[in-house]
Amino acid sequence: MAYNLLKGKKGIIFGALNSNSIAWKIAERAHEEGAELVLTNTPLAIRMGDMDELAAKTGSQMIAADATSVTDLENLFSKAMEIFGGQIDFVLHSIGMSPNVRKKLPYDDINYDFFAKTLDISAISFHKMIQVAKKTDAIREWGSIVAVSYIAAQRTLFEYNDMADAKAVLESIARSFGYIYGREKHVRINTISQSPTPTTAGQGVKGFSGLMDFTERMSPLGNATADECADYCITLFSDLTKKVTMQNLYHDGGFSSMGMSARAMTQYNKSLECKECQENPLNRQDAEL
Ligand SMILES: NC(=O)c1ccc[n+]([C@@H]2O[C@H](COP(=O)([O-])OP(=O)(O)OC[C@H]3O[C@@H](n4cnc5c(N)ncnc54)[C@H](O)[C@@H]3O)[C@@H](O)[C@H]2O)c1
Repeated sequence: MAYNLLKGKKGIIFGALNSNSIAWKIAERAHEEGAELVLTNTPLAIRMGDMDELAAKTGSQMIAADATSVTDLENLFSKAMEIFGGQIDFVLHSIGMSPNVRKKLPYDDINYDFFAKTLDISAISFHKMIQVAKKTDAIREWGSIVAVSYIAAQRTLFEYNDMADAKAVLESIARSFGYIYGREKHVRINTISQSPTPTTAGQGVKGFSGLMDFTERMSPLGNATADECADYCITLFSDLTKKVTMQNLYHDGGFSSMGMSARAMTQYNKSLECKECQENPLNRQDAEL
């Protein structure tokens, strides 16, 4: 159901690769709510992904940009303003990639060039896009900038690797830049900390289906889907949340406030029922981890 919450607003959406992408769902919802959009991704993602379909569906133009390149970002913001005939109301950063995760290097044996890439793509790109937007005065007063984050910024989750560090930096940038951009232009900056979601990036994390099952059992409202994330994000782009800034907002069915749930405990106890585990719980294969 549409509420016209973004009627007349113009936004840039980073990170829609295919119909599973969180950014894809957000673009669809923003369009339904009346926004005009520019879609952007890397040249490779535009060639290999399904963005043409999303652009046709939402009547949007696509502009290629590597979010780690300041030159590409300058070109993107200037072209988007030409297309819109003026300033932009909202920007979504929905970008993440870790070469260490891709190459399955464990956190205590990562490659530092890869680590630098993880940080540049998944976090510093957020600073770069905000800095370019501010310097070119691309965002309208009371505009909204949102990035998608994950609870690994606060808590250690097995196998999330250097993406955890990237998310901590991402959320910190939202606070540091949120202060400056808010003070000077009333532009708000927030991150949404989303439940595990079956996307290309999500499924790249080892043990992803087990993690999704665990968080589903732990969360009183269940995992939040990409569509639900899109609904939440629309409120942050809308004028209904004008004084919300510098926040990391959990959108995770309650997971972040849980310690143990009955559903997770039941499942955990099942694994303790085996004879070997009862004899010596630490003598299990996973004790090595
Ligand atoms: N899927 C999950 O479980 C989950 C949970 C919480 C947060 N997130 C975050 O949501 C965001 C979106 O990821 P997703 O799950 O929709 O996966 P996705 O793979 O669909 O999206 C990741 C996007 O990042 C883009 N990207 C990679 N390098 C880039 C670069 N240099 N410049 C511009 N774009 C680049 C990719 O092309 C892709 O479109 C990421 O920040 C991710 O960490 C995902």
